[in-house]
Amino acid sequence: MGDQAEKLREIMQNQHDSLKNSNSLKNNNSLKNNNSLGNDSFTNHYVRRNTRIIAVSSGKGGVGKTNIAINLALAYAQLGKKVVVMDADLGLANVNVVLGIIPRYNLYHLIRKQKKMSEIIQDTNYGIKIVAGASGFSKIANLSDDERKNIISELSELSLADILIIDTGAGVSNNVLSFIAASDDALIVTTPEPTAITDAYGIIKIIATEIDNINIGLKLIVNKVKTVTEGKRVAERVINIAGQFLNLKIDYLGSIYDDILVHTSVVRQKPFLLVDPKSKASICIKHIAGRLENIEYKEGSGISGFLKKLFTKK
Ligand SMILES: Nc1ncnc2c1ncn2[C@@H]1O[C@H](COP(=O)(O)OP(=O)(O)OP(=O)(O)O)[C@@H](O)[C@H]1O
Ligand SMILES: [Mg+2]
Repeated sequence: MGDQAEKLREIMQNQHDSLKNSNSLKNNNSLKNNNSLGNDSFTNHYVRRNTRIIAVSSGKGGVGKTNIAINLALAYAQLGKKVVVMDADLGLANVNVVLGIIPRYNLYHLIRKQKKMSEIIQDTNYGIKIVAGASGFSKIANLSDDERKNIISELSELSLADILIIDTGAGVSNNVLSFIAASDDALIVTTPEPTAITDAYGIIKIIATEIDNINIGLKLIVNKVKTVTEGKRVAERVINIAGQFLNLKIDYLGSIYDDILVHTSVVRQKPFLLVDPKSKASICIKHIAGRLENIEYKEGSGISGFLKKLFTKK
């Protein structure tokens, strides 16, 4: 696992360095080939730093990963970041469904080597880009090592994004672990349900034992809470046990209220952050984005206040 992560970082770094060393993006052929995000504001005239890769994972299914991945991406986009969401839930892809998008190509074509990452990445009307998952590809649950490595190395084509959010799907398959190993941060999502908590601890334990390179920032989100205190209590349990038995430090990113809007926005196929930016769930997601960036989101200060803080801190 560590090998794959290292390889990815190396590729990303090389691409970053080659961008840095180039005076003109337009006149450089090799860069043109690598310029996977298209000729728009995503890629225009700037030298970028490394892409921050954030995996969103869980032990138990159905705890809110896909909604968190998408709405967190939108919160980041509102902060002026260039964001790509990749649906790596191989087999049960649904990022595009939640966004109401019918993708032309998806990871299936990449895995089958029919398309490059640059050809399957897709624009949305939401200011983010997506890489659609490979729905209905039954064999996909058992990707070969080579197939997995191919996807991971193709991630380098996304290095022009500031943030790459990977919805890994639930559980602890080798696929999921590879994506987590390639990430800077792994956001583990749980709900207050005892089964979800146990499974969250389960995936954390497997990450700790299976992935050598533990430079990954492990972070916890408690979704579908009734109160902030409930979220804190759940987080303390997981964090204390992981500290005690695995000697692992896990940061608590915060909770997200159980909010009917999340459900209705899925039915409407429009992200809840856009349906109602002032809803409980939306405010929670903005807080989480703020904590990931080490800035404080204050209700009422609006996005301009948020931006101000972002720039004054950096
Ligand atoms: N904060 C919330 N409040 C209310 N309902 C929620 C919340 N988060 C998620 N849900 C409900 O849970 C459902 C599942 O969410 P989502 O698809 O994001 O989970 P998932 O972890 O990606 O599932 P899977 O493991 O199947 O990929 C949503 O369709 C929504 O109805
Ligand atoms: Mg999902």
